[in-house]
Amino acid sequence: MSEQGSSQGNQYPPDPELSKTANARPEMKEQGLEEFWDEQAKQRIDWFEPYETVLDWQLPYAKWFVGGKLNACYNCVDRHVEGGKGDKVALHVVPDDGSDSADAHDITYAQLQRQVVKFANGLKKLGVGKGDAVGIYMQMIPDAVVAMLACARIGAPHTVVFGGFSGKAVDERCTDFGAKVLITQDEALRGGKAGAQKKNADDGLSADTTIEKIVVVKRTGGDVPMTDGRDVYYDDLVADLDDDPSSCPCEPMDAEDLLFLLYTSGSTGKPKGVVHTTGGYLTGVTTTTNLVFDVKDDSVYWCAADIGWITGHSYITYGPLANGLTSVLYEGVPGYPDKDVWWKIIEKYGVTILYTSPTAIRSHMKWGEQYAQSRDLSSIKILGSVGEPINPEAWEWYRKYVGGGSAPIMDTWWQTETGHILITPLPGITTLKPGMAQQPFPGVKPEIRDDEGNALGLNQPGNLVLTQPWPGMMRGLYKDDERYRDTYWSKYSDAYFAGDGAKYDDDGDIMLMGRIDDVTNVSGHRISTFEVESALVEHELVAEAAVAARRDPDTGQAIVAFVSLVGENQGDDELKQTLREHVATQIGKLARPAELIFAHDLPKTRSGKIMRRLLKNIAEGEELGDTTTLVDPSVVEVMQKQVNPT
Ligand code: WT7
Repeated sequence: MSEQGSSQGNQYPPDPELSKTANARPEMKEQGLEEFWDEQAKQRIDWFEPYETVLDWQLPYAKWFVGGKLNACYNCVDRHVEGGKGDKVALHVVPDDGSDSADAHDITYAQLQRQVVKFANGLKKLGVGKGDAVGIYMQMIPDAVVAMLACARIGAPHTVVFGGFSGKAVDERCTDFGAKVLITQDEALRGGKAGAQKKNADDGLSADTTIEKIVVVKRTGGDVPMTDGRDVYYDDLVADLDDDPSSCPCEPMDAEDLLFLLYTSGSTGKPKGVVHTTGGYLTGVTTTTNLVFDVKDDSVYWCAADIGWITGHSYITYGPLANGLTSVLYEGVPGYPDKDVWWKIIEKYGVTILYTSPTAIRSHMKWGEQYAQSRDLSSIKILGSVGEPINPEAWEWYRKYVGGGSAPIMDTWWQTETGHILITPLPGITTLKPGMAQQPFPGVKPEIRDDEGNALGLNQPGNLVLTQPWPGMMRGLYKDDERYRDTYWSKYSDAYFAGDGAKYDDDGDIMLMGRIDDVTNVSGHRISTFEVESALVEHELVAEAAVAARRDPDTGQAIVAFVSLVGENQGDDELKQTLREHVATQIGKLARPAELIFAHDLPKTRSGKIMRRLLKNIAEGEELGDTTTLVDPSVVEVMQKQVNPT
């Protein structure tokens, strides 16, 4: 039911039936910070030893559930088996070629437990123990989830590197973390094509890599290079190992022991190793999964993200499994083998909760609603959106065609650094407004401030900050206290600076307005302009490079690279293609510039500073205004002629 007429557009009040049964209760927002999280931690997490203190907050570092001992894998797997839910399906595994495939299968909690135990025993055999870093470079296959849980089981922190990143990115991250073991798969299977995975990893290994062993899970059985003494097939590693849970008990971990690092892009420098620990993170993701998606024992949950991102960590692996849910784990891409594959999956498994990105919704929208309409999607109860602001048209389409015109959409704002959802509507409570994340989760205290630190009121755009800690917040950047303080805690001395622009609407609901730094968001993936620039200048023909983002109707933002070449080289279409591919091999395909523009120089002021604002204007195809301060105003004309904004 839509109510027209508000200044913001449509509004959708909660269904009163849902309000009666929803897990989230309005009173939760009235609870004190520690009271709320204490209650959640006790109710939702099994502790081997209870914590003494809920929160120890010494800005900018928080410790949660101090003194408590627990194990994330125990909470995600073992306790469900011990509690009699061993036969419940944990994962509906849907392979690349769709749910009808002979490879499609279910994994129960009891089976998951045995697989994890076996994997953990394999890691132990390689000498991995508590505190030893492990790298994971895989696609969306169940073994990836098993590998993460196996690490958690023995207390070995993991760092998952997105399967679409380059081998160089893998080596950089694993070596920064000091990982000696890397887990990968022979080949990636996406959209019906087998692509390199293990070989990418090999190609990226540097002379000073810390990786000593590579475990290779077979996905396609394709022929891949194996180095004697270093590489081992997973099947061979575990052939004679036990899968009985008693053979590998869950390691009791301190609440503040490292669970994982996840590297993410900043506006400058190398990727940042975001530190997440065990007790607070697990409490945060378990609670938010439960309340935001209103999960029930019979829910069938599908988060269509990738385990290589924080969304996959929090809302494919840890959050849903800790809640004992049945989830869909999908290897493929939207649109293969058919454009209706997503809707077929929802129909076949009776999916009740779908959590995906605005970019994916926009692709489906572009293909047309006939695909969704050809399937029975009546099982859907709750929808989620994450990764970038969702435009109201996509929101309305999602609700109408996927949500049967009635399913509430949770537009969830959070970050790699925040660990879990912080700003979101709640089912049964919030009157929804298309395109807005709207309300802080219980215990979360946002503010919108101007550059001087003044708190802003309604309809005044500013910087989003958080003035209170939350359990899943990062515990710093790996071995870089200075960068942590600089990036997040120096703009304002008393609050977490998120890097997003935001404003309150007339009713005080929060609207996110995109990054305010040099981090771009392409299809919900964070890419720093700095990293793309660094990759470009590594090419021998490139003298200088600068990168800007322009709006894109499909991917949210698209990368436009401005390049000046060495010598007298003018560049041509072939070189544009070569340089775009160069970025793809250096970083990963998702960082490949949508457009590349050559000029004899970049637009610089007399002091030598590149005028980035101008590049942004050029990329967007906007009016430039005054360019007289440039050393050579002719560069912008050369650039403008090449731009072709969609
Ligand atoms: C950045 C964080 C959150 C997990 C996936 C991305 C943008 C994220 C929303 C949303 C508007 C959003 C922000 C944020 N973002 N969700 N619902 N509405 N913007 O994690 O790669 O760490 O990126 O994604 O700009 O800062 P990430």
